[in-house]
Amino acid sequence: MKILLVGGGGREDAIFRNLREHGHDVHVCMSNRNPSIISGAASYHIVKETDWNAVRDIAVKTKPDLVYVSPDGALDTPLVDSLMDSGLAVASPSRSAARIETSKEFMRSLLSRHGVEGNVWNATVSSRDELIYALGELNAEFVVKPLGLTGGKGVKVMGYHFPTAEEGITYASGIMEKEGKVLIEEKLSGEEFSLQAFCDGRHVFPMPLAQDYKRAFEDDRGPNTGGMGSITDSDHLLPFVTREQSERSLYILRKVSAAMEKEGFPFHGVLYGQFMNTSGGIRVVEINARFADPEGINVLSIMDDDLGEILMNVANGNLHRQPIFRRVSTVLKYIVPRGYGSSPAPSELSIESGVLGEGRKLFYASVSGTLDRVTMSTSRALAVVASAGSIPDASEIVDRGLKFIHGDFQVRRDIGSREMMRKKIASA
Ligand code: AMP
Ligand code: GLY
Repeated sequence: MKILLVGGGGREDAIFRNLREHGHDVHVCMSNRNPSIISGAASYHIVKETDWNAVRDIAVKTKPDLVYVSPDGALDTPLVDSLMDSGLAVASPSRSAARIETSKEFMRSLLSRHGVEGNVWNATVSSRDELIYALGELNAEFVVKPLGLTGGKGVKVMGYHFPTAEEGITYASGIMEKEGKVLIEEKLSGEEFSLQAFCDGRHVFPMPLAQDYKRAFEDDRGPNTGGMGSITDSDHLLPFVTREQSERSLYILRKVSAAMEKEGFPFHGVLYGQFMNTSGGIRVVEINARFADPEGINVLSIMDDDLGEILMNVANGNLHRQPIFRRVSTVLKYIVPRGYGSSPAPSELSIESGVLGEGRKLFYASVSGTLDRVTMSTSRALAVVASAGSIPDASEIVDRGLKFIHGDFQVRRDIGSREMMRKKIASA
């Protein structure tokens, strides 16, 4: 097939490589000069992914069999709708369907309108009085969330990001001043996990569970980031999530899909639920409208199926079977500029081919340059991924590959380590 992919980060490199491995001609619209994508694309266009008029014009000229719009920013524009209006097959959600991610208020209210399990106490408020009233009703620790997209960096949790209710109120008031409204949620605690699923408007098929590590520093310290790395396990569960809990989260995603179909905006694309395993059961932290980054890279790196065929079925409402993933554990560690998460200082990285030893894979994210020398941006640079019989073995294989990458960077070596996994299993 001739496929147009919109996006040029690490997740899109993983999507791109699966499509190339299955023989598709891939044309790409991206804002950076991703060297991995450039090396195999049938054509590429350097364009801001949110410049939807420009991307739509390129798509119409390219005449692809299928378009996949990947980044959340692009899903929050009229792009997908205008591609569909131009008669193209698109495996991504319409702007109305993408609201499941782009409006946290919409997500919470959809769950409550349809009685979907796992919802969390929440209130959207637009004045200080409403805020104080809501916090009095909740009478517990809380979380402050801007309603729209924040690249994983706008949510602040009491006890982690602000110590007292007063400081939370100040943060929430600042958001209200700028944006008019803010979302307050009850603070949950427990292990978080990600369930990504292909969804064709009606049928929902899961990918292996994954866990993302958002904090910038080892031992889960430091500011929240877009994600420093991620793991999956060989049974496609996680050592601290049972099959029953995994099935419960899939049941929730299926109910979300059914609710969206009922309300007249069926979801086509990847539905990605971020769940928390709490003492009160499985709860919904977020629902996103795309592959997770980094977790999407883990699962795509072990997918044996042709993603192009799956995405065509996603677009056409024809998804009828479970995609196949290899039964191995994976660990991914992102190489990021020093200071990432607060004040990143991008520099150059040089890459020796030894990084691909022991079955490791290297995905290129927000970088420009060549395959062996890249310039970082202020965002994530390179993802090193390994698979093995166990999570700690995969983590060690990644670590052995890091010595082939030279430059001034940060990486979390603890992700998937024996010690980290032991702690997580003990506290589950
Ligand atoms: P989000 O940007 O909404 O994915 O949130 C970023 C992170 O904030 C999540 O991965 C959680 O760790 C944390 N978070 C979000 N909502 C809650 C909540 N209701 N309770 C506790 N932590 C939360
Ligand atoms: N893994 C975090 C995200 O993709 O939003």
